[in-house]
Amino acid sequence: MNQSSYKVGVVGATGAVGSTILDVLAERSFPASEVVPFTSARSAGRRLEFAGGEIECRELAPETIGGLDLVLSSAGGAISAEWAPRFIEAGAVVVDNTSYWRMHEDVPLVVAEVNADAVADHHGLIANPDCSTMQAMVALAPIHRAVGIERIVFSTYQSVSGTGQAAIDELLDQAHALLHDTDPEPPSVYPHQIAFNVLPQVESFKDGDDYTTEERKMMAETRKILGASEAELGISATCVRVPVVTGHSESVNIQTREALSPDRCRELLISAPGVVVVDDPADAVYPVARDVVGRDEVLVGRIRRDPSHERCLNLWVVGDNLRKGAATNAVQVAELLAGRGLISVPVGASF
Ligand SMILES: NC(=O)c1ccc[n+]([C@@H]2O[C@H](COP(=O)([O-])OP(=O)(O)OC[C@H]3O[C@@H](n4cnc5c(N)ncnc54)[C@H](OP(=O)(O)O)[C@@H]3O)[C@@H](O)[C@H]2O)c1
Repeated sequence: MNQSSYKVGVVGATGAVGSTILDVLAERSFPASEVVPFTSARSAGRRLEFAGGEIECRELAPETIGGLDLVLSSAGGAISAEWAPRFIEAGAVVVDNTSYWRMHEDVPLVVAEVNADAVADHHGLIANPDCSTMQAMVALAPIHRAVGIERIVFSTYQSVSGTGQAAIDELLDQAHALLHDTDPEPPSVYPHQIAFNVLPQVESFKDGDDYTTEERKMMAETRKILGASEAELGISATCVRVPVVTGHSESVNIQTREALSPDRCRELLISAPGVVVVDDPADAVYPVARDVVGRDEVLVGRIRRDPSHERCLNLWVVGDNLRKGAATNAVQVAELLAGRGLISVPVGASF
């Protein structure tokens, strides 16, 4: 459907990602005739202020979801599992931020700068990758295209906003208590105190697996986005939660198929869409989480040879997990769909 403006639903509009989506839609002047914010019954009726004005939250319910062209959803996997098919049935195309649909074979997993053409294959549902995977792909896809990557070792340093608003509150409350010489409340979001601490666990360990669900997502989603099999691309990930409010940092070690010097790698990344190279370490110039907050680009620095292998490089990759890691990419996908006349559910599509 090629039309000039769309009725857009934002599911999870009061959350860390959903509230950022509202701002990004307005900032980028997405052609929305109306934006409808959906929440649970808890927040229904609440008025939300965002860059585009003020709107009233609506409870997600069978009688409230009709009449939309497009839905950007970020209220958790269980909500998307149930409601994405209902929105599609009601005629809306869904861009989903949760992990629930990402690996489904009929769902394109899209990073706007990397595999934009994949949107054309949608059956009513497009998935936004995990935030850690997203920023890594913006930096690594140009290298993969140029020389091939055959192995990646990710070590992440992930901020608490990646878990949502409740985790931001937990970090700030604990830090406030500790700085005022009082005992913080026992942690409820994370298994340990996050303030002044580092936790080698992002998300959960399922079914006896000794990798977390976040680590598994990074491995599987990277391969899906780059179109590489397990045999073609070895990946190992260790995901770590750090007491930073927003901005994920990643140490990334890559082994390329063809030789790649740090200088050539820098050149590739300087011309890559969505990447800013910040790399003069002798002058303490490198990406830091604070500098990326509110930005849509992925910052890359500390580009250097791994002395243990002639075809390995180390990189430091930093991104705003709420913007490029979630909201901005979702809106970019919406723009791609609108620009290509793809905001319509194909006949017979169902999940
Ligand atoms: N945070 C990130 O950096 C990031 C990045 C990529 C993807 N994601 C994914 O995005 C999703 C949301 O993350 P978040 O960080 O924004 O979480 P969050 O801050 O906890 O927000 C959750 C949102 O979901 C809504 N919600 C909860 N239960 C609901 C229900 N039964 N019906 C309708 N709405 C409901 C909440 O509304 P109420 O006000 O009613 O509670 C709130 O708006 C998660 O699946 C997460 O994995 C997050």
